[in-house]
Amino acid sequence: MSETAKIELDGKSYELPVIEGTEKEKGIDISKLRGGTGGYITLDPGFKNTGSTKSAITYLDGENGILRYRGYPIEQLAEKASFLEVAYLLIYGELPSSQEFETFTTSITNHTLVHEDMKQFFEAYPAQAHPMGILASMVCSLSTFYPESLDPDRGPEAKDLTIHRLIAKLPTLAAWSYKNALRHPIMYPNNKYDYTQNFLHMMYAMPTSDYEMDPVIVSALNTLLILHADHEQNCSTSTVRIVGSSHANLYSSISAGINALWGPLHGGANQAVIEMLEKIANDGGDVDKWVVKAKDKSDSFRLMGFGHRVYKNFDPRATIIKKACDDVLDKLGVDDPLLDIAKKLEKVALEDEYFKERNLYPNVDFYSGIIYKAIGIPTEMFTVMFAIGRLPGWIAQWKEMIENGEPIGRPRQIYTGENERDYVQFQDR
Ligand code: ACO
Repeated sequence: MSETAKIELDGKSYELPVIEGTEKEKGIDISKLRGGTGGYITLDPGFKNTGSTKSAITYLDGENGILRYRGYPIEQLAEKASFLEVAYLLIYGELPSSQEFETFTTSITNHTLVHEDMKQFFEAYPAQAHPMGILASMVCSLSTFYPESLDPDRGPEAKDLTIHRLIAKLPTLAAWSYKNALRHPIMYPNNKYDYTQNFLHMMYAMPTSDYEMDPVIVSALNTLLILHADHEQNCSTSTVRIVGSSHANLYSSISAGINALWGPLHGGANQAVIEMLEKIANDGGDVDKWVVKAKDKSDSFRLMGFGHRVYKNFDPRATIIKKACDDVLDKLGVDDPLLDIAKKLEKVALEDEYFKERNLYPNVDFYSGIIYKAIGIPTEMFTVMFAIGRLPGWIAQWKEMIENGEPIGRPRQIYTGENERDYVQFQDR
């Protein structure tokens, strides 16, 4: 007999089905609770204990520091795969054959150009515009250029075309938002480069000079993109699924995900890490003083890049990226006082009882921010880099949700406002 959970409410006992995943994770299915119990719901602010879906894409075990895409350990993918191979794996469920990969990469390469009319949008943004704001708007605008994307159920070929266009164009839009901020001429994509190289080319080449590819930088970037490619039901992914659940098109759903990622408690943390290091440096570089502030509950300051909602022992991505970080810093011979502060902070926090007791370890964003800085990516572009990496995961989750025919997302609430009262005329209030 399958396992059930018993719940007692108002002297009555109810049985709820227990769901088990392929990795033996268990959950209590409360989807019929409200109807069956005459109005009870569950309350879980921040969804810390709530599963919003069954998903076959990513397995994450925060207690044991495990992350797998479609069953493949992140360590193996980060070491051996290319970002587009991982994108294919996440979106289509299996690693591609060489023929499938060739077809996929050719399709992506053929769609990297952005409609010329969109260039005018860039010109209208102020130079100080945050590239995440531009990126979210541009991705949403793609839906106006490709109206056939408006129906997410238009069949597999139309869906694939929309998906390939988006993967192909995101780095172009991202690099152009950077060029726009500098008021430099934009660089068109060049089909001789692979996905990662093409992004670097559009960021750093000028009409007058090529960008010289450094294999260490290309490889670190490929690793970073893979490490960010999916992370199951986090804030931005849940946003993509919930927006997509209304059958809004893929571009608008991903645009919503980009906005959710922007916040400093999520993807914006990599930018917040560098800003925090700068603040500490400008204040004289006294790391201990800032660690004390981070521990003080009356002080809102937190150590950015430390702690994680689900990883409570270590972040497996941080272990991989720490090595890539060391490689890049060694290769480039970077001498930056901010990096010294970062290293001191990492040491102090790892040895401090407050951080040890609460399992607060450096997360992937602590190291990714340092790598981006070392390779010359401007701070405001850090979260954009995260978005490029996370795109295949968002797409895979959106596709799974649409293909599983999931219902529109619509949580409940416990109302805590005024009871019914009568309206009175203004002069009597
Ligand atoms: N610095 C100081 N104290 C912290 C930090 C931090 N970075 N993170 C958590 N704490 C403390 C909290 O004050 C709390 O202490 P208490 O138990 O004495 O009240 C305890 O640790 C637990 O913290 P919560 O906020 O409950 O943990 P939660 O799981 O809700 O938050 C989060 C996780 C948002 C990532 C948090 O650790 C944080 O704000 N970190 C800094 C921002 C950051 O790096 N975000 C990136 C996340 S990774 C990503 O998105 C890819």
